[in-house]
Amino acid sequence: MRIPLIAGNWKMNKTASEAAAFARELVQQNMTSPAVEIVIAPPFTALDSVRHALEGEPSIRLAGQNLHWEDHGAYTGEVSAPMLKDLGCQYVILGHSERRALFREGDDVIQKKLAAAFRHGLKPILCVGESLDQREAGRTTEIITGQLKGSLAGFEATQLAELTIAYEPVWAIGTGKAASPEQAIPVHQTIRRFLQQEWSPAVAQGTRILYGGSVTPQNVADFLASEEIDGALVGGACLKVESFASIATLAQKRTGH
Ligand code: 13P
Repeated sequence: MRIPLIAGNWKMNKTASEAAAFARELVQQNMTSPAVEIVIAPPFTALDSVRHALEGEPSIRLAGQNLHWEDHGAYTGEVSAPMLKDLGCQYVILGHSERRALFREGDDVIQKKLAAAFRHGLKPILCVGESLDQREAGRTTEIITGQLKGSLAGFEATQLAELTIAYEPVWAIGTGKAASPEQAIPVHQTIRRFLQQEWSPAVAQGTRILYGGSVTPQNVADFLASEEIDGALVGGACLKVESFASIATLAQKRTGH
């Protein structure tokens, strides 16, 4: 059974003090339940203040938004897996399309970051997704499969037990134009088939595959109604307490598959 996961990617939003106030408000919402796993990914600078604000609420877990593949060294401006672990992170988002597009992260770099996450017991949320041009050219399967092949090269099935994949079509991110479940579901099936072919049916069945891209309280139930969609990676709608809490609460209504 895959427990649904609702993850909020705050991106470059909220100072440490704003983030702590926000996290305290989230705790007041009583939105946690064993039926759903909730993860928030504040900016690095806010991880410590959010961790303190979440004390006594272990059901809201912390994620980094990125990491460097080395543990330490001369990498000005970077943050490593041990640093995230030390601040209480259990998850890390890797390969987000903004990192791919704006910071030129390729699948080879993402593969090294995944290795660092696995090495340190951080659970990666690996993002994959096609651009609008790629979708319109009928290349979605090729693009998604290529991203998975490149970034997951060389990992063992046991490592993948900690992996979550997020399908985030680039054209749906921050646009208010979410994919329809009819557009998302075949891609989720492609991802699961790929995991089955390259690793095993157990890996395919055990891996959570989230949808991300303009998820809101209004559309989240449509995605979660499908057995193929194991949760959501939420951007804009996770920055308001009410909308993130209502997404998390709606996800509780969907029992794990
Ligand atoms: P939006 O929900 O704002 O479209 O962002 C999605 C996203 O990029 C989450 O990682």
